[in-house]
Amino acid sequence: MSGSKIFRDRGKLSPYYIPKVLPHRDEQIERLLSIYGRIVEDAERGAYLRIVQLVGSAGTGKTCTALRFGELIVEHAKRLGVNLQFAYLNCKVDGAKRHVLYGSLAGKVVPTLSTRSLSPEAILRQLVEYLRREDRYLIACLDEVDYFVQANPKEHIVYDLTRIPEMFPGEPSPVIGEIFISRSLKWRERLEEGEKSTLGLGIIRFPRYTADQVMDILEERVEEAFQPGAVELDALELISDVTASPPVNGDMRFALDLLYYAGTLAENMGAERVRPEHVRRVYGELNPTLTTEDIMIKNHTGSLLDDLRGAG
Ligand SMILES: Nc1ncnc2c1ncn2[C@@H]1O[C@H](COP(=O)(O)OP(=O)(O)OP(=O)(O)O)[C@@H](O)[C@H]1O
Ligand SMILES: [Mg+2]
Repeated sequence: MSGSKIFRDRGKLSPYYIPKVLPHRDEQIERLLSIYGRIVEDAERGAYLRIVQLVGSAGTGKTCTALRFGELIVEHAKRLGVNLQFAYLNCKVDGAKRHVLYGSLAGKVVPTLSTRSLSPEAILRQLVEYLRREDRYLIACLDEVDYFVQANPKEHIVYDLTRIPEMFPGEPSPVIGEIFISRSLKWRERLEEGEKSTLGLGIIRFPRYTADQVMDILEERVEEAFQPGAVELDALELISDVTASPPVNGDMRFALDLLYYAGTLAENMGAERVRPEHVRRVYGELNPTLTTEDIMIKNHTGSLLDDLRGAG
């Protein structure tokens, strides 16, 4: 353990850490669990594919909610004796092209499969055949699909993936879930009509966090990441207000970063606690382009932003 007076575990502020509790996302998790929970419960009688889209702007918790849901549904399946895997892919990271993307997916499910000499379609077929043979089920989560479709308009991944059940027509599908994550529904404009219709209507929205919601999330995280009493309430309120206002607009990643750097600054300055002035200093550096005009336009949070400006 570090001897820090400020931090207990700064890793808990990392964007890669998925907390067990996600305040204000219960509804989204519950909806996912109710959709896929039922399919898992009925798996013996024949499973089928259900497609869901998660849609919301930057930092509204789409990725962490999907990953947390993945853990929960796999636990649920295990209790029922169903061998379910949740495979998460980020289309930006895991595949520049369809072939690479399917290779990444297959690699997570069938480690022994060599995809090098296979066509993209053949990779998916091998994957499905493997699942059928092994009596296993899969939910595939494709994050940042909007990015992929924009970068590769000719690579019809939605077509390929949503037609998986048609590989074995009339038979149950071992791929029971496909979760497509995007920042808006705009990416669907690039799809062909047939693709759009197979995507269906299962859309779960992630509204932007309000200042109160950001506050709740931060309070939860502060307990894990900081020493008791090491962050002043005023500092958290400032972060929450700034995060909920333009130009940040509820991006929780920004709030956590601001908290992390404010904590680091407080520590470097030898302070006992993280105070609003630490937040202001960091925010000032993150926002060198914020002009007086910007600040005046946002008059509903004017006093706070005036405070911030004062620190610059
Ligand atoms: N409800 C929540 N409770 C706790 N932490 C949260 C919550 N929502 C978001 N976070 C945290 O905020 C950060 C951003 O969330 P996440 O990556 O899930 O956003 P996103 O909607 O996927 O954004 P993007 O569109 O930019 O990919 C992560 O570190 C995540 O852990
Ligand atoms: Mg994300």
